This record gives sequence, structure tokens and C-alpha cells, in this order.
Amino acid sequence: MQTIRFDFNPMMAEYTGEHGITRAEIENLTGEMRNAHAMVEKNRGKGMQGWMLLPYEQDDVIAAIEKTAARVRDEFDAFVVLGIGGSALGPAAVHQALKHLHYNELPKEKRGGPRLYIEDNIDPERMAALLDVIDLKTTCFNVITKSGGTAETMSQYLIVLDLLKKAVGDDYRRHIIVTTSKEKGFLIKIAQREGYETFYIPDGVGGRFSELSPVGLIAAAVTGIDIRALVAGAKAMDERCASDDPWKNPALFEAGLMVAAMRKGMNMSVMLPYADSLKLMSDWYAQLWAESLGKNVTLDGKPCHTGQTPVKALGVTDQHSQLQLYTEGPFDKVITFLKVESFRAETPIPHGCDDIPTIAFLGGKSHNQLIEAERQGTEYALYRSGHISQTITLPAVTEETIGQLLYFLELVTAYSGALLNIDAFNQPGVEESKIASYAVMGYESEVHSAKREEMKNRPALNADYIF
Ligand code: PA5
Repeated sequence: MQTIRFDFNPMMAEYTGEHGITRAEIENLTGEMRNAHAMVEKNRGKGMQGWMLLPYEQDDVIAAIEKTAARVRDEFDAFVVLGIGGSALGPAAVHQALKHLHYNELPKEKRGGPRLYIEDNIDPERMAALLDVIDLKTTCFNVITKSGGTAETMSQYLIVLDLLKKAVGDDYRRHIIVTTSKEKGFLIKIAQREGYETFYIPDGVGGRFSELSPVGLIAAAVTGIDIRALVAGAKAMDERCASDDPWKNPALFEAGLMVAAMRKGMNMSVMLPYADSLKLMSDWYAQLWAESLGKNVTLDGKPCHTGQTPVKALGVTDQHSQLQLYTEGPFDKVITFLKVESFRAETPIPHGCDDIPTIAFLGGKSHNQLIEAERQGTEYALYRSGHISQTITLPAVTEETIGQLLYFLELVTAYSGALLNIDAFNQPGVEESKIASYAVMGYESEVHSAKREEMKNRPALNADYIF
């Protein structure tokens, strides 16, 4: 198996200078890192750490998904994921990574699966636009919600259900696959009543840690991704990160570096992939990092305001947008490059302007060389300006390397949560927003009525500030 590699040199003071992390800081943190490792291991497979079992305990689930995927490929021209947050970001990131960059535009025989749409918003124009490009008679919908009651997803379900009944009559059930909790929430009850084909999200797997569960694996298998290799990649990373010695466990070392950086005021984490295929990895990572580490109370109940703001960027595009800030702005960021060694295409640059030296040097080279040269140039510019960075190298973007990357980032998040002494697996801030919005929508329950009253007690708006 090709393995992903990590270069943490530009994170270190001995390489980058005063804003880097010193070896002494890492050594002083070693005890905390070992404790963090012990805590994560102690809870492996328990509570909300069920995601750590996904690489090991899914043989039957994977076989069932592959069977369903084959049926979907046979019967449908389009596959639509209805979900949001952790129920959408993983499927989108993995699809972008592993399938053709213009997958939906390819002719059917080159695609090898139905067109894929991931509908993770309720912008009214978005649903209208989707309906303009799909034929309900040949579309399958995967309704994904762990809680089984998220308003965005369930409202989409209601719209689609109504339209499907009108378009295909009693056959609508064949067009719906449900992915939800086995016992909690209302979607499972609806699915049982209707007899929809259903896959389960294990209780101990939170949305942002669910890509390697049926949440992500169904859409991946439907479009022809080798989900066994994806999961094997995750398992390989888990095995690689078994040690409690940070010098032998890259995820633990990385968590130590990130927490040391946070303690030095680096409150932003920029994910900068130099590959369009990895662009949506930044979106997936943003949720994982923000929702897991952004907390206001420690595990022992003390107030805190932890977290590091994730920033989504893309090389080389953002060299022409954000890089000026990264090189000359404040020392408040960790920049993580995602580097791809071998792309799936080779794009040579022909000669053509040999009399113009500023363009001629490009002739005879390739985009493959240019994108890596620009990545190195950016890394150097950051080094010169004293800004820290790190590079994760994927020898190639494959199921196995993507599985490794996903699991590595999940482990780093879990270790970082333990180091910060917070619960990395809950999301009370998200729940608060859900309750407040349902209250605004007129949901009748004790909790929502109380929330409506509470919301009325906000200070009156001052007209001076409204223009
Ligand atoms: O990570 C999380 O838990 C959240 O972002 C959820 O994924 C998101 O709120 C969607 O929830 P659900 O899957 O219950 O619809």
C-alpha cells in the first residue's frame, strides 16, 4: 500500500525561527501527549468513539452496500444525497478526490455510475435547480441523517417524497434509501413504516466522524469507488498510529504540534491542498476541526474557549488571493499543505513563445511541474517570512491514501481534544442553533416554546445602527 508522508520541519523553530515550536516544547508536552493517547485508547469503540471500530467491523455492512450499489447503478441515472454537515461533507470530499473532476458531465459509459448530486443546503433555488437537471423516474435519493430529524434534510425528504409519488406512484419506495440511527430519531420509524432500504449509522459515530460508515460508503460505492480499499487505508493509518510515543505516532505528534501552536496564539488552521481533487477535503476538515475543538467548557466543567478556526484554501488558486496575508500578516496560522506526488493526468506545456523569456521558460515543462514548483515557492515564501507550515504528501490520490488521510485527521482531532481537555465529540453550539431555528419556524414543544420566549428577551434593536 502506498503510504502518506508527513514533513513537520517547517513547524519547528529550529527550521523556521522564532515563531516555530521548539523541541523543548514538544518534549515538555510528551507526558500530556501520552495521556491523550491513553485516553483516546481507553475509549476506543466506546461512547462517541465508535468511529475507531469502522475500519475493523464492517464486513457485512460493506457487502450489503456493494449489493445495493450494484442495484442503484443498474436502475438509476442520478443519485442524490440529501444530508447536511457530517452527512454530506465526507461523501462530497471523497467523491471529489476519487472520481473525475467533471464526473457528472461525462457520458454514462465513462462515468461507470449514476450522476451524483449532494444537496447540503436548503437554498430554494438549489432544489429548483436540481429538479431542472434530474428525471425523478430515474433518480435514487439517499436520505442521510443521524438524528433522523434535521430540518434541512427532512424538509428535502418531504419535498422529494411528494414529487416522487406524483412522478412514479407507488414505486416511490424503490427510489429512496435511508441512512440513519437504528433506534433514535423519527427517520428510522418512517423508514420502517414505508419499508425503505435502510443502512444504520452506529450510535457511537458522530456526523463528522462518519465518512467511513454507510454515510459515506454508499455514495462512494454507487459511483464505483473501491470502498474496501478506502477502509483498508484507514485501518493502515490506525495501525501506524498505535504507539503512545509521539515520535512513532504521526497523528499524536501532529496533535502535539497543533496544540503547542494554539498555545502560542496560532488560532487558525489553513488547509491548503495543491490538487483540485483534494479541494473538498478542506471543507470536510473544517467541520471536523471546528465542531470538535470549538468548546467553552473543559471535561472537568471549567469555562474555556478553545478551538482553532479552520480556513479552506486551494493551491495554486489562493496564492493569488490569500497568500499575501499568510506571508505578511500576523503569526496566527498553521498552514498545512496537501501535496500530491503523482497526478492522474500529465499536462505538458508546449513551446510557443520562445522569443519571450518570461513565458519561454514554461515551454517543454508541464502543469505537473508547475503546480509543485508553485507549492515549493509558497512553502519557501512562508519560511522566509517566518511563518510555520507542514506538508502531508500523498504519493497519489487513491482509495487507500484517502482512507489514510481521513483517519489520520480524525485521530489528530481526537488526540487534540484530549490534550485540550475538552469533549471533542459533542456539538452543543450546533444544537442551540437548531433549537432556536425550529422555534422561529413555529415548532410546538416545551423546549421550543421556552426558546421562543427567551429569544424575545433579546435587547431591542437600536435604529442608530440600522441604515
Ligand atoms: O457533526 C455533526 O454531528 C453535525 O454536523 C451533523 O452532521 C449535522 O448537524 C447533521 O446532523 P444529522 O446527521 O443528524 O442530520
